[in-house]
Amino acid sequence: EKGGFPSFMEKEIHDQPMAVEQTLLGRLDEKGNLTLDELKIDESLLRSVDKIIVIACGTASYAGQVARYAIEHWCRIPTEVELAHEFRYRDPIVDERTLVVAISQSGETMDTLMAVRHAQEQGAKVVAICNTNGSTIPREADAVLYTHAGPEIAVASTKAFLAQITAAYLLGLYLAQLRGNKFKDEIGTILAELEAMPAKIQTVIDNEDQVKELARAMKDEGSVLFLGRHVGYPVALEGALKLKEIAYIHAEGFAAGELKHGPIALIDEGQPVFVIVPSPRGRDSLHAKVVSNIQEVRARGAVTIVIAEEGDESVSDYANHVFRVPAAPALLQPLLATVPLQIFACELAGAKGYDVDQPRNLAKSVTVE
Ligand code: M6R
Repeated sequence: EKGGFPSFMEKEIHDQPMAVEQTLLGRLDEKGNLTLDELKIDESLLRSVDKIIVIACGTASYAGQVARYAIEHWCRIPTEVELAHEFRYRDPIVDERTLVVAISQSGETMDTLMAVRHAQEQGAKVVAICNTNGSTIPREADAVLYTHAGPEIAVASTKAFLAQITAAYLLGLYLAQLRGNKFKDEIGTILAELEAMPAKIQTVIDNEDQVKELARAMKDEGSVLFLGRHVGYPVALEGALKLKEIAYIHAEGFAAGELKHGPIALIDEGQPVFVIVPSPRGRDSLHAKVVSNIQEVRARGAVTIVIAEEGDESVSDYANHVFRVPAAPALLQPLLATVPLQIFACELAGAKGYDVDQPRNLAKSVTVE
């Protein structure tokens, strides 16, 4: 069942083009409008929503963090992302005009389920983004948007993450379409860009040997840092989580802008630092800022491992290693930039001789609070 791969995790990394493709399938009608029929939630309610709160745990919460950038940009609805176990206990301000989006691969995570119930008690409607048909969270939610990643067996979440981002983006585009805002005319273009992603993800996977080689060479590292900005920030968090959970290496993700507010003190000779570089064609000066962050850590002795777009030569002088990803719109880059980080963690854990699919102390679904 591992499809010839040494672990479920590696198989599931390779399933990702399919996971994204399946999640996009059948979402357009003949007029080119986005249809989310299965959502079955009152359209007038979705039009009146004045706040979105995404609740989730672990990797699913990072998918929510990525989606927040897109949803706020496309829908202009204030969007918060909160760990479900924190949301539940802080007396959150939630009412009938709040749309709560619960993201869960398993649909059985107790922390997320308790947060869903709490939100519903306060009058909010809950949309679940879930990968497991008929599981508890989608059964209790007011509406469901399934990710179609197929069963995820490895404890470390990979294909579910990419599918969650895809589904949350579809929800954002759907809200933009319903509410008739300025992005509604661009939905077709954005969807076409999304539909081009599976082939681009495949390109990243096809280049995995370079990532694997570095992972094996780094198997004795004691600590690895990850930096990103904008949507690259949750990607950095996800890269660090993968390394912690399956390779038992101390790893931390930071917003690159936060470096000078403390974490840069950690950098000394030989410290490995992954940096996720946004597209040079993106907005504002984001790209230049991240390139200067690479310079800053490199000048203090860091070994820099840079994930950058094909053809972006501005990073070459400061990168000890570069992994290339195909060009894509800024908001879609997480679907590409995450993949080398997953491959890196998987290969490194394997090189250490660990059970990649069943890391110590962890369960696939956490059904206790
Ligand atoms: O099944 P869920 O998506 O609700 O699970 C949430 C987290 O427990 C999960 O993403 C966890 O962080 C993974 N082990 C990450 O790889």
